[in-house]
Amino acid sequence: MTPHIFGLNPTKTLPDPTYYAEALNGEFRNWAFCEERSQEFKGRWREEVFEVSKDHPMDLEIGTGNGFHFAHYAKAHPERCFIGLEIKYKPLIQSIRRAINEGSTNMRIGRFHASYLDEIFDEGELNHVIIHHPDPWPKKKQWKRRLIQDDFLEGLHRLQRPGSRVDFKTDDLPYFEWALEKFKNSKYGQLEYTFDLHNSQFASENFETHFEKIFLKKEQPIYFLRVFS
Ligand SMILES: C[S@@+](CC[C@H](N)C(=O)[O-])C[C@H]1O[C@@H](n2cnc3c(N)ncnc32)[C@H](O)[C@@H]1O
Repeated sequence: MTPHIFGLNPTKTLPDPTYYAEALNGEFRNWAFCEERSQEFKGRWREEVFEVSKDHPMDLEIGTGNGFHFAHYAKAHPERCFIGLEIKYKPLIQSIRRAINEGSTNMRIGRFHASYLDEIFDEGELNHVIIHHPDPWPKKKQWKRRLIQDDFLEGLHRLQRPGSRVDFKTDDLPYFEWALEKFKNSKYGQLEYTFDLHNSQFASENFETHFEKIFLKKEQPIYFLRVFS
């Protein structure tokens, strides 16, 4: 029984938030990797983690949030391996637990800062990359924190196999315009984009993420781009 002390902030009686940090190396150890363990598999994710051949497709989602898309994608593509990256403990555990509960086995998740992907993946190790609603960092002095930067795209392009794609969507127009410009100036080839995802050719294949639903309720458009390596 949790003791109830009169006058105590009621949130203090909620489960200890460190449960999520402990679960990463405990209950979910076979499915989720902390920063150090994520680095151990550089160049060997297919062979060591998924036990598949080097030709097997392996995709990455950056910033899984609470994992509705992560679980959906793993289940929809059992023929592909799927890695998620998330820096916050709670959504990380929510994401992997959701996918496990769906009965999938083709996915893993790492707690790792996505700006340093070359510390966990080797050249040509990745196929498709998915980035949904990354933090927009709207103030000018915060722009350097945005994930999409020239050197990030140069590195990401190097990590992907030729013919793979990047799917990027956001609810934030200034960030979308920023990203569009950076992708246009990058080594990526074919570029497709829309300023209204839900009324575009991409609508039928779209999966609405948690953040997307929030912005759709406010009747805001979603911006989407796809590039090929
Ligand atoms: C705005 S939420 C979007 C979540 C989800 N993709 C969606 O569309 O509902 C952004 C998520 O990215 C995670 N994140 C932010 N920066 C990150 C980074 N550098 N590396 C990995 N995850 C990051 C955050 O913790 C957060 O869960």
